[in-house]
Amino acid sequence: MISLCCPRCDTVLNEQAQAGMLCTACKISFPMLSSPTGRVPFLWSEPQACLLDWQNRFNAALADLETQISTTQLIDSVGPATRHRLSHLNNALTRHQRELADLFSGLQVGDALARETHLALRTQLPSHHGALSYAQNIHRDWSWGEDENQQVLEHLTGVLAQTKKPVRLLVLGCGAGRLANDLHRALSPTETWAVDSNPLLCLLGQRMSAGETLSLTEFPLAPVNAEACAVTRTLAAPETVEGLTFVCADAMRLPFAPGQFDLVVTPWLIDVIDARLADFMRVIYRATAPDGYWLNHGSLAFAGNQAANRMTCEELQEQTNDAGFTVQSSTDELLPYLQSPASRHRRVELTHTQLAQRDNAQAPQRQPRHQHLPEWLVSGRAPIPLSPGLQTQITTTKIHAFIMSLIDGKRSVLDMAKVLEEQRLMPADQATMAVRQFLTTMLEEARRFEGQDHH
Ligand SMILES: C[S@@+](CC[C@H](N)C(=O)[O-])C[C@H]1O[C@@H](n2cnc3c(N)ncnc32)[C@H](O)[C@@H]1O
Repeated sequence: MISLCCPRCDTVLNEQAQAGMLCTACKISFPMLSSPTGRVPFLWSEPQACLLDWQNRFNAALADLETQISTTQLIDSVGPATRHRLSHLNNALTRHQRELADLFSGLQVGDALARETHLALRTQLPSHHGALSYAQNIHRDWSWGEDENQQVLEHLTGVLAQTKKPVRLLVLGCGAGRLANDLHRALSPTETWAVDSNPLLCLLGQRMSAGETLSLTEFPLAPVNAEACAVTRTLAAPETVEGLTFVCADAMRLPFAPGQFDLVVTPWLIDVIDARLADFMRVIYRATAPDGYWLNHGSLAFAGNQAANRMTCEELQEQTNDAGFTVQSSTDELLPYLQSPASRHRRVELTHTQLAQRDNAQAPQRQPRHQHLPEWLVSGRAPIPLSPGLQTQITTTKIHAFIMSLIDGKRSVLDMAKVLEEQRLMPADQATMAVRQFLTTMLEEARRFEGQDHH
């Protein structure tokens, strides 16, 4: 059986009944997230700070729910159809608060606020990972997604047909865990490890695989009718499985000794993980056993706004070969994606699947720790460098603050434009338009805070 290792120093961890998992070298214990049916190790380099970070994200999700509930309070002026929908939504959101409180209860947050050590280690959760970012995937995995899940499984087992059955399987970015569960049952390895950075998803995967049944409300993006704006789903796995373990950890700092997995699967991960692809490939290479396989599946939608980073499958193949693998097959398949029956929003995605075998020429390397945060921020003592980007932010913030300070309940848009012109901040022909645009944005933000966003 594979042993879990310290994500800081690679020492094998000791599991303790109460204290979680202990690294005797770093003298640090890693918590276990608990559920009614089991425990999920939380193996981040700085576990307490990271847990606290997640806790804040869950609190933010609960606060957002409060705001949403207040926006569904019935208003006299709406028609009967809207009233009907909002009333249904209001009940569902209130129920959802209880559902989430139950799901989040498995998170233990220590008293110690270890923010400083978190900073010292320069680790950071990506700011765009919300607690409920992948809520649709949960419902696809464990309620209405049977057909989608089956199609993906058939496609992947077809691609793997020529390879030896894996004994040790690792699924990175496993989400709510259905594919890990399906692959485990289809390929029958001795052990499967499923890793995700989101504790809620790990706990759900663990609970489902242990045979629990849960109720969770789905809020489809474009409901097909009023009842579909919030649908209570029953989440359950097709069957209970043994030998599948969920771990909450950073896929960039895996808590395993090198070279142990004969199959590493990365479903819908390489284009969303907060790391350079070449760095992530080093991590995958290190985790894979000599002659083992890496199976990548999902979209290739790299790096949002930067057009130059939008890599093709030929480039992926090139980089894979450079990273010490030999690409065995590379296929495209049009597959349904998140097609909730309650939503009008249903995707079909040209997914890419690449199977590569690890060469044995290179020694696996440890990925250096993430360097998200600069020294001046970590130590707090060095001067903050005045970079061109920060300089621009400073100037725009000053102008914003000045315009805001002009709002006194008396001045009009034209009065404010006149002040800007007098202060020589803007020529007359631009000032009125600029003030209008600025105030439009402010108004939209204020409405969002007050929960009155009409878009
Ligand atoms: C697009 S979702 C795909 C989830 C799942 N594989 C599926 O197909 O439904 C990406 C997943 O990767 C996880 N993830 C992102 N960055 C990660 C990291 N550094 N380490 C581990 N998991 C990560 C997210 O929490 C999320 O569950």
